[in-house]
Amino acid sequence: MRIWFASGNEHKKAEMEKLLGGYDLILPKEAGIEFNPEENGDDFASNSLIKAEALWNIVHEPVLADDSGLCVKALGWKPGVHTARYGEEEAGRKLSDREKYMLLLKNIEGIDDREACFVTSLTLILSPFRRYMIQETCEGTIALTPSGTNGFGYDPIFKVKEAGGVIAAELDGDSKNLYSHRGKAARRLRLLIDSEV
Ligand code: IMP
Repeated sequence: MRIWFASGNEHKKAEMEKLLGGYDLILPKEAGIEFNPEENGDDFASNSLIKAEALWNIVHEPVLADDSGLCVKALGWKPGVHTARYGEEEAGRKLSDREKYMLLLKNIEGIDDREACFVTSLTLILSPFRRYMIQETCEGTIALTPSGTNGFGYDPIFKVKEAGGVIAAELDGDSKNLYSHRGKAARRLRLLIDSEV
């Protein structure tokens, strides 16, 4: 089965292909399609559906879309869908990953309850009448200080509950995939796609 991936990010595509183990994904830009839908949903599921529908309306073939982020209890479960741009509106410029997670640490400084979770929402559209949404989490807590060099984004400040509290940036790639929101969602998606072919 040929599946379009509603993203512009080659790194994400390669990661998802690896997690799905054997299915090739096609990015819109690889077919010369300009794809930049406005992700204005209030939650991860809405945003992944917005992206999947937008691409379906162009290609009319099976499409997959994802949306993910970090939800922190002490911040009212934010930044959520705004994770990628955390702090940038106030700063008036792009922030590096490190600037973003250091800002988050500052914003919950002194707070004891540091519960948090990463969330991924995947939407698969096989036809206008056959749509699937999988949403998974990686539960954990926000560390007091950053640590580790693996991974990306907020990994240096996220302690993975299922890994006994090890910081995500200290896990190797395979261990992270075992526990991560994306790894869990992709394994479920794979079962679903496997049952189609
Ligand atoms: P996206 O919607 O998948 O691009 O992710 C939104 C933001 O969430 C990204 O900018 C990342 O910083 C953050 N994020 C998502 N998943 C992870 C993860 O597994 N580790 C660290 N940060 C993540």
